[in-house]
Amino acid sequence: MADPPLAPSLLHALTQLLGPRGLLTAAEDIAPHLTDWRNLYCGATPCVIRPGSTEELARAVTLCAAAGVAMVPQGGNTSMVGGATPDESGRQVVVSLARLNRIRAIDPVDMTMTAEAGVVLKAAQNAAAEAGCLFPLSLGAEGSATIGGVLSTNAGGNTTVRYGNARELMLGLEAVLPDGGIWHGLRRLRKDNTGYALRHLFVGAEGTLGFITAASLRMFPRARDTALAFCAVADEAAALALFRRFRDRDESAVRAFEYMSGLGVDFAVKHIEGITLPVATRADHYVLVDLASSRPDAGLREMAESVLFEAMQEGEVLDAVLAESEAQAQKMWRIREEHPEAQKREGASVKNDVSVPVSKVPELIRRCSAALVALIPGSRPVPFGHIGDGNIHMNLEQPEDMEGAAFLARSHGIMDCVNEIVRDLDGSFSAEHGIGRLKTDMMESWRGGAELGAMRAIKAALDPKGLMNPGKVFP
Ligand code: FAD
Ligand code: MLT
Ligand code: ZN
Repeated sequence: MADPPLAPSLLHALTQLLGPRGLLTAAEDIAPHLTDWRNLYCGATPCVIRPGSTEELARAVTLCAAAGVAMVPQGGNTSMVGGATPDESGRQVVVSLARLNRIRAIDPVDMTMTAEAGVVLKAAQNAAAEAGCLFPLSLGAEGSATIGGVLSTNAGGNTTVRYGNARELMLGLEAVLPDGGIWHGLRRLRKDNTGYALRHLFVGAEGTLGFITAASLRMFPRARDTALAFCAVADEAAALALFRRFRDRDESAVRAFEYMSGLGVDFAVKHIEGITLPVATRADHYVLVDLASSRPDAGLREMAESVLFEAMQEGEVLDAVLAESEAQAQKMWRIREEHPEAQKREGASVKNDVSVPVSKVPELIRRCSAALVALIPGSRPVPFGHIGDGNIHMNLEQPEDMEGAAFLARSHGIMDCVNEIVRDLDGSFSAEHGIGRLKTDMMESWRGGAELGAMRAIKAALDPKGLMNPGKVFP
């Protein structure tokens, strides 16, 4: 008979340490932790560890490390690349940070917040707002994604164009290392050149180097003047030209600049209740321009009207609507934010989260769209996303007359097709979602040689037994 997935002595020790709230073993409690948001993977685990404090986590990790048991950190489980789910062996334990959900401190003078790893992103935004400040990271999954998760993936999202990725918002970290040691690095200094910046190693490590348990985060002044425009534009090049117009007029005012294809907006209108097209006529290309300033008299609405007028004269903008109220602004943002859900409801889709230099975005969209339709006739390209960062989700929806499973069986061919063009345009095969389990096979050809060698050396130094999130990131 095969060994049980977890030695009874270890299970007993974990039960003693964590109690029933901190250790889930019943199948129905474990089930939500096993599949990813996209339903690409369904793993197995003997238990889910849910520590209530950093010290409790450290003790649990010490026990697992001594027993040689692999651990999979999990935050909100919204990974787009299967990064937070265990494999099918039933030998990896899931460690959920959900109970580490306290805002430990907030300081509107230093403009910093200390949040535990399991704090949901939306809760962090709300805490900053209550203190009269702004925590700017924003993405469609913000109601579930956690601080530990967004840091571990170095998440981007809608406001990267102005505030940077999660990395740029982090000043210090507290972490539990793979041997159970606690690293107290929760400094909140703007200047701190004291050897290697270890905190940056953990950002984007996708749980392969240890557990982030808390972070010192930067806050910013809250917006006192805003303007939001939903625009129909002539083509991809016009979308980029409009971005340049706004950036040239006042770079600091551009909080988000998002591109959507006509088909992506059609799907949102078709599948998501309450969404309607804000402009009079359907177009093949749209952008959402979000302007914000901490100055109450910034005159952003007038600025938007003036830039849009110029762009219309040049034929770049075909039609545009400015939000008249906060409610209307939220409705316009939903059109963009519901793209992943609408695509899911339309059928099977393959995601290509890629980036290129901003100037090459129009070429990226045009070349990939043509190549994908040639690869799978009838398939439907749905490019959208963070055009101001050069990060387009070059997603592909299944043909209407094809079985979803048959389409998904071609996922890797579809990703290769896009990646070939991305490489030619000096881009990256993973802009913001990370590698997870889905893209490990791409690492050798994109990051092989000295770069992957150095990553392996770092991994071996911090996690010599290879217990942290095995099967992720590395091929
Ligand atoms: P999880 O999915 O639980 O985990 C992600 C990775 O981090 C895993 O490898 C996991 O092992 C590791 N991890 C989690 N917590 C910890 C921790 N405390 N310590 C160490 N490792 C940890 N992403 C973007 O970048 N931009 C977007 O615009 C965006 N939009 C999205 C929209 C939707 C609708 C969805 C479903 C996802 C979107 N994502 C986006 C992807 C996802 O939300 C991000 O990757 C997010 O950062 C994951 O956070 P999470 O808490 O859910 O982490
Ligand atoms: C988003 O920006 O909405 C997601 O990162 C993209 C996706 O679901 O492909
Ligand atoms: Zn995105």
